[in-house]
Parts: sequence; structure tokens; C-alpha cells
Amino acid sequence: MNRTARVSPAKARFVTLPHPTDIWNALPAPILLLSPENRVALANSAAESFLNVSQSQLVDRGWEPLFPHDSPVRALVDEARTSRTDIAAYDLLVEFAGGRRVRADVLVGRLADQQGWMALSFQPRAVTSLVDRQIGQQGAARSAVGVAAMLAHEIKNPLSGIRGAAQLLSESMDGESQELTGLVITEVDRIRALIDRMEGFTDTRPQSFQRQNIHAVLGHVRKLAAAGFGKHLQFRERYDPSLPDVMGDRDAMIQAFLNLIKNAVEASPAGGTVTLTTAFRQGFRVRTPGTGARVSLPLEVCVIDEGEGAPAEIAGHLFEPFVSARRGGTGLGLALVAKVVGDHGGVIEYDRQQGRTVFRILLPLAPGAE
Ligand SMILES: Nc1ncnc2c1ncn2[C@@H]1O[C@H](COP(=O)(O)OP(=O)(O)O)[C@@H](O)[C@H]1O
Ligand SMILES: [Mg+2]
Repeated sequence: MNRTARVSPAKARFVTLPHPTDIWNALPAPILLLSPENRVALANSAAESFLNVSQSQLVDRGWEPLFPHDSPVRALVDEARTSRTDIAAYDLLVEFAGGRRVRADVLVGRLADQQGWMALSFQPRAVTSLVDRQIGQQGAARSAVGVAAMLAHEIKNPLSGIRGAAQLLSESMDGESQELTGLVITEVDRIRALIDRMEGFTDTRPQSFQRQNIHAVLGHVRKLAAAGFGKHLQFRERYDPSLPDVMGDRDAMIQAFLNLIKNAVEASPAGGTVTLTTAFRQGFRVRTPGTGARVSLPLEVCVIDEGEGAPAEIAGHLFEPFVSARRGGTGLGLALVAKVVGDHGGVIEYDRQQGRTVFRILLPLAPGAE
């Protein structure tokens, strides 16, 4: 039955529909229309940007070369064709031939009354899984906070006892034994320093939130980095100058961005560039875990480097404490960043884009900021 027949002529008279192409391109989900020969007949704008190719390239070269031979996307389309059913696969790891990976729901639907025609659509999961992950990370960070607080409290006192005793002993000792007591003292000092670092997590004093110009914070951190640990690299700043203020704790924000930039510097190839960007993104909203209210996080800050990215084994756990692939690393840097971002009501995501590593932070506006 023709669906448009249901619209009563009286109502239809008052509505002028936009051109179908405009409707098609306005759809937020990437969709490909596949012919019975499995060629691309149409691709909407969302599909072009999701797949990173133009519609005319898709029409010329087909969609299949975009995915590796064993791709689940190919298998789903094959299956839908042979079994003559619609198929939906949720939360797939879609890998592209170029190596890019995206989590997405993949839907293959047959066009009613059009034998062999299919719509292949994708629902990228970045947003939903990002929120799931954040909530998990906050849990992990909280339990680490508890452990760290307990350790700090329980270990620091006996440590000063040990240090004092070693010092006393060393006074009544000869050369070789003195060397050993010296060793006890330096190792105790090392443990103390580690605990002091962990106490950064347990610090739950209310932070002093004030309006902050994020570019001023970033500029300061960039200067510190370029003069110190990042001396051998290039820094580039791509800012949206119209970005409004955020409510934040300046010291905590500086600490967080320093950690991100330090990681970026450590991951950069020789002569590489570390890029800081800001942007205003109207559309991004997340559901808060507690109330379920939807909050808008329009301020985006990215720290981008040209390194190889995190090893696959840890890529899904970067923001958890004690996860590190670096010799001598503590794995506390990104956990602290995630805590600070969470304290500011934001979320953070690790991403790979065009061979570069992107740490993307999304923050809410300061109340009353336009
Ligand atoms: N920009 C980056 N590029 C590649 N890997 C990164 C980057 N930032 C962090 N990582 C990975 O995440 C791990 C955890 O980082 P972090 O929490 O700062 O701890 P640490 O630096 O002490 O190892 C690092 O060991 C590294 O493997
Ligand atoms: Mg680090």
C-alpha cells in the first residue's frame, strides 16, 4: 500500500515537503542505498563523512573495498541477501580497510516492494559507549581513591618510624653498614614520594570553581610544555576564539592538561607536532548517571599527537588507575585527568583519527555563559 495515501488531501495542501534529497541528507545516521547488484545507488551526507569517501567515489568503486574481506559488515549484507531478512547487529567493532575502527550498530534492511534493494545504515556508538565507559571509569577512580586514602594513612606513619630508626642506627655504624642504612632511607623517601602522588587522588577538598577562559589555561600549559619537557617538538594551537568560559578549578585544569600534553610529547615521533584545539559543538548531550537528566557538553578541547596511539591491549582502559605501557610509568596520569574532567562535569575520550591520537574532552558551559 502506498503510505502517502494516508495523508488526507486537506492536510497535505498545507505542507510543502522539502526535496527528498534534502531529507535524505539531513538524516543523522549514515545510510547507503544498495542496488540488487550490490552497488551503491545513493549515500547520504552522514554516510560520506562516516565512511570518509564521497558519494561519487562510492558509486564508482562500490562500498565493499572500504571494509576488509572478513568484515562483519560484508557478512551481514550477504546474510540479509541470502536469508531475505532484515538484520541488525548491535555494538559491532567495525574496522575499515585503512585500519580505522569504530563501534557502531549496523542495520541492513530490505526496501519494501523493491526486490533486492537494501538500506545499509550505521549508528555510531561513540556517544553511548563513551558515557558507559565514563561511568565505569568513575567507579574505578572512586575505588582507587578509597585504596589510596587508606594506604596513605596507614603507611605514612610507620614509614617515618622506619626512617627515624635508620637514621639513628646509621650514627652508630661504620662504612658498609652506613651504606645499607642510607639505602633504607632513600627507599623510604621513594615510597613517601609515591604516596604523596597518590594523595593527589584522595584530595577531596571542595575545589574552587571559578569562571575560566580555557584558552588562557591552555596557553599557560603550552608555554610550560614548550619550555620544558616538550622543547624538542612543535606546538600548534587551533582555537575557536568565540568559545565561552567554563567553570573550573584552574590548578586542577592545568594539572590535567599538563598530564595530557606530557603523554602526547612522550608518544610523539621525533620532530612531531602536538596540537591543541578547541571548538563549540552544539549537538553533544549526555545523560548524567545520577538523575538521568540530559546535559549538554558543548565545549570541546582536544590534545592531538602524531604518535602511534596506545597499545591495543590497554586502549580500552587508559583512564583506569595503574594502567601503563610505559617503562617507569605509574598509570596515574590519565586516571587523574579523568577524575578532574569528571569533577568538572565533563567526559573524556580516547580516539584515533587519520593516524593521529586524539584525547577529546567535552565540558559544560559556565552558567549564564552564551
Ligand atoms: N598520547 C598518547 N599516545 C599513546 N599512548 C598513550 C598516550 N597517552 C597515554 N598513553 C598510554 O596510556 C598509558 C597510561 O598513561 P598515564 O595514565 O599518563 O600513565 P603513564 O604515563 O604513567 O604510563 C601510557 O603508559 C601509554 O601507554
Ligand atoms: Mg602519563
